Amino acid sequence: MENILNISIHKSTDSRLSEFNLDTSEFGKTPTDHMFIAEYHNKTWSNFRIEPFQPLQLSPFNLSLHYGQTVFEGMKAYRMQDGNISVFRVKKHWERFNKSLKRMAMAEIPFEVFQEGLYAYLTVDSAWVPSVEDSSLYLRPFMIAYEDRVRVKVAEHFLFLIVGSPAKQYYSKPLNLYVETYYSRAASGGTGNAKCGGNYGGAFYPTLLANQKGFDQILWTDAATHQFLEESGTMNVMFIIDNKLVTPALTDSILEGVTRDSIITLANDMGLTVEERKISVNELENLLQNHKVQEAFGAGTAAIVAPIGSITINQTKYSLPNYSDNAIMFQIKKQLNDIRTGKIPDKYQWNDIIHIANQVNS
Ligand code: COI
Repeated sequence: MENILNISIHKSTDSRLSEFNLDTSEFGKTPTDHMFIAEYHNKTWSNFRIEPFQPLQLSPFNLSLHYGQTVFEGMKAYRMQDGNISVFRVKKHWERFNKSLKRMAMAEIPFEVFQEGLYAYLTVDSAWVPSVEDSSLYLRPFMIAYEDRVRVKVAEHFLFLIVGSPAKQYYSKPLNLYVETYYSRAASGGTGNAKCGGNYGGAFYPTLLANQKGFDQILWTDAATHQFLEESGTMNVMFIIDNKLVTPALTDSILEGVTRDSIITLANDMGLTVEERKISVNELENLLQNHKVQEAFGAGTAAIVAPIGSITINQTKYSLPNYSDNAIMFQIKKQLNDIRTGKIPDKYQWNDIIHIANQVNS
């Protein structure tokens, strides 16, 4: 890719890669050697650079620390079987990032900055993209207000960064979910479908309470009535019922998952009927009581496809069946991974390929 932005590259002299062990690593703990940064001042993005990964210098007056003007994306880069790197659905993630930025009154990012930043970052840190089954480089583009003001105001200066960390599966075992009917994640008209830091921070306390009761995650319900399913913290939620894929229809309090969208596309392609609709807690409980839920799983960038082992509704725990390797969710996950790693044709043009073999490292 042409370096239209004139990204300056300052390489680290000391790679940490040889000390990194994917098998013993924790998700999101080890950064790669570099990061991409861009700055927004006077309504213009500039100062594009790759730097060694290092702490940011922020004033204690930094506005994002006080008022939460922060937005992020979660994306993944895969090692393809020919050694090149594929980045999954760059444009779709960029579109969602900009939607979130708009909702948070932050400067939108031009596609070329997002895409070229990713390419530059992945080119210098290409060796960090793992190749073992079910692994990837988790990418975290994010933006923060970059203005020093304790007064409550919309920031005019922003910092956009891309960092990354090699990742295996986010969840290692089937999840025990707790259907939350008191606390809310997001209300209609709020920021629920924006990927802003506050949505996650606000979920910590109810999640902690659920964890203390032995649950892995919360299955959120709508804030107005607590009668309808929304999403599960780090993922959208999906069910196989009567051999159909059933998932809550998107609302302004549910994050529009890129993995959710990809799974729906693949399910349609496999000939499955897909229902995006309201699912009430009562309906789910009825179906669980009558053993009509064949599969339940979460779908997200980090989680990919995360099997759900049990769902607890009003103190009653409903266990889902043990899933065979041939479960529909695993068939879909395999297709997703096979597209990303180049094992099957990318007929939806979801992969942005970085041709490492042809790269001239500057
Ligand atoms: C993702 O799946 O990428 C997410 O952003 C969820 C979580 C890791 C914060």
